Amino acid sequence: MAKRAVQQPLPGTTDRRIAALLNLLAENATIVVSGARIAREIGVSRSTVWRWVNRLRELGVRVKGEQHTGYFLEKVPDILTPDTLRQRLKGSVFGKRIHHFFKIDSTNRVAMELGHSGEPEGTVIIAEEQTAGRGRAGHSWHSERATGIYVTVLLRPKISPVQASLLTMMAGLSAFSAIRAQSDLKLDLKWPNDILIGGKKVGGILTEMHAEPNQVRFVIVGIGINVNQEKFPADLSAIATSLRAETGRPQSRLELLVRLLRQFETDYNQFVVNGPESVIRNFETVSSFTRGERVRVTNGVEAFGGITDGLSREGFLRVRPDGRGESVSIIAGDVTLDRSVVVVAKKQRNDK
Ligand code: BTN
Repeated sequence: MAKRAVQQPLPGTTDRRIAALLNLLAENATIVVSGARIAREIGVSRSTVWRWVNRLRELGVRVKGEQHTGYFLEKVPDILTPDTLRQRLKGSVFGKRIHHFFKIDSTNRVAMELGHSGEPEGTVIIAEEQTAGRGRAGHSWHSERATGIYVTVLLRPKISPVQASLLTMMAGLSAFSAIRAQSDLKLDLKWPNDILIGGKKVGGILTEMHAEPNQVRFVIVGIGINVNQEKFPADLSAIATSLRAETGRPQSRLELLVRLLRQFETDYNQFVVNGPESVIRNFETVSSFTRGERVRVTNGVEAFGGITDGLSREGFLRVRPDGRGESVSIIAGDVTLDRSVVVVAKKQRNDK
């Protein structure tokens, strides 16, 4: 299929003129800009300006004013507009082709399609809101509007399909470093794709690929980070947290996304040149979960409890099943922390 030479707007992506409206308001923050001037400068009618202002308001952008008085921004918003990102990512492979959606089903779904249509390495897809955000193992990813980071990057590494899953761990490490650079929170990584704070999930990675038996065609790495959520739906509130909830103050999504993509680029270049050894080593170093943690493993065939025992040379989690001396590599399946057993075991120790 023919490659896209210039970036064509995809159906549903943010109209560049909405981004221009936002920029115009941001450049004149707290000054009233008349509807007529905005309409003239971005080339739309005054009623379109009014409609777009309301759209921005729905996203939580604090635009004051009316059609007849003009508009002003009460506060410069934390929207991940492609123009701003492009500027902040100058010189980065991720600053070249950015597709931004106010609302989309899943950035991974879009990235998959773009991968098939020949879009180049480094393409970034961002959404302010996802209506069908995908998680690992068929789970969904809660993607509340303008509160989290929902981003997918498209890569075309010359690696074998087995190595592609290591990109999940690499992305986890990149997210770990980016969050650490912005806050002094104590983070943990749970193999292969969870970013945790105090045992609760603050971020996750979903890597998908299109490959021949021995060669990857493209990989998409989707990253979700809970940044400014103040509360979660009932079924998630015990297991999910956000950076805002943990630090007690709102966090800039823009700063975090820029840090994340820059760090990702550094880590990815290293991965491509030096191979995945350092990813496996670093993951073992920062993840308390990979050693001595009681877990429950479920795969299609069996379920068993055991203790984590580091990572294999290929990056698989090693688990020593209860009652057996030898550790096994977990190649597929779900690994969950088995805190209930730890609590019982501790209680029994205390009872003695
Ligand atoms: C997980 O921990 O289960 C993985 C979550 C991955 C969520 C991100 S949000 C951006 C990208 N688009 C998706 O639909 N999913 C990933």
